[in-house]
Amino acid sequence: MSGDARKTAEQLDHLSGFGNEHASEAVPGALPEGRNSPQRAPLGLYAEQLSGTAFTEPRAHNRRSWLYRIRPSAAHPAFTRTGNGAIRTAPFTETVPDPNRLRWNPLPEPPAGTDFLAGLWTLGGNGDATQRTGMAVHLYQANSSMQRFFSDADGELLIVPESGGLLLRTEFGLLHVEPGHVALIPRGVRFRVELLDDFARGYVCENYGAPFQLPDLGPIGANGLANARDFLAPVAAYEDVEGPVEVVNKFGGNLWTATYDHSPLDVVAWHGNHVPYVYDLRRFNVIGTISYDHPDPSIFTVLTSPSDTPGLAGVDFVVFAPRWLVGEDTFRPPYFHRNVMSEYMGLIEGAYDAKAEGFVPGGGSLHNMMSAHGPDRETFERASAAELKPHKVDDGLAFMFETRWPVTLTPQAAGAGHLQQRYDDVWQGLERHFRPSH
Ligand SMILES: [Fe+2]
Repeated sequence: MSGDARKTAEQLDHLSGFGNEHASEAVPGALPEGRNSPQRAPLGLYAEQLSGTAFTEPRAHNRRSWLYRIRPSAAHPAFTRTGNGAIRTAPFTETVPDPNRLRWNPLPEPPAGTDFLAGLWTLGGNGDATQRTGMAVHLYQANSSMQRFFSDADGELLIVPESGGLLLRTEFGLLHVEPGHVALIPRGVRFRVELLDDFARGYVCENYGAPFQLPDLGPIGANGLANARDFLAPVAAYEDVEGPVEVVNKFGGNLWTATYDHSPLDVVAWHGNHVPYVYDLRRFNVIGTISYDHPDPSIFTVLTSPSDTPGLAGVDFVVFAPRWLVGEDTFRPPYFHRNVMSEYMGLIEGAYDAKAEGFVPGGGSLHNMMSAHGPDRETFERASAAELKPHKVDDGLAFMFETRWPVTLTPQAAGAGHLQQRYDDVWQGLERHFRPSH
């Protein structure tokens, strides 16, 4: 895609907020006043509701949008099954949950002509998409813009680019996403991914559960972590395109395809709170100690998908952003631990402060429930001896999908050639220092 696309998308990204009601119209007068579904919608448009939560969920969690479009979404022929490519969906039952610490290098490069959908590759996940519980970890690679459209009935898609800019053309408008940003496509929203560079690579959390929301802040107060105003929704932009186009629908773990006679991105105006958005991770307000010890890494939560148990997330999206370390008499890198939650980590750029090597951008690690992990030997020895001056960690951007259930691998991830065979070695050579006679 040309430089013009970058400029266009930037100009459109100016509606801000999170979970609140937005309204946008590409043509003045397209949005009806005072009612959602008037007898005749303005300008001959069709009114249509898109629900992201049950009609009856509490107002604080309720998500829905009203779309005013050239044709209603119902105007399409039957879907037929098509190949799933490398996409897999929960329940993940083809391998047994693995207690080992696992780490992958980046995927091998895809063949020419791979678009975002063809380049989606599932690592694993948990829950059951048809029960709307759990999540999947995917990686993506693309060297070609999508000529087709995609929507995911199984869950929302949190896209975490690591390489290459993306222009997401959605029913709601355009989102410009660069590495260091994350974008969210709500469940059921049709979109197409155009590349802004020759190659794109990154991560996707497919969240089958409750929509991501901002975490509660408790004693932190009214401000901090990710600020609602930094989540940018698109402004309405529609495609008035006739002619055959392919629309792929992920439903119940399978891909289904239909040929429409018009672009499904024909929404001229919309209002609601079930909307795509983009967020710049560099806007994250990082909070940490100013005395000693660490808060737990949950202090870095950007978004959370709550479960029916308060405080227990189906999945949290957590970022390890540049930050100052000032703790006195404190082992400053992430500590050794075993976690009841399961952790998939990826790296967007640079390095991560708990690992000296082997954890690279585009790669990832999985530390399932109760698997022991933490800094490698080199990091431990260095941090234990370091002079504790204020120090800024600013050479990397790592993230975590942290989930209440173990992540079970797909066979393609368990048997991947890019799965590192000697990851356990990073914790070898941690010497005993215990000398009770001293
Ligand atoms: Fe951890």
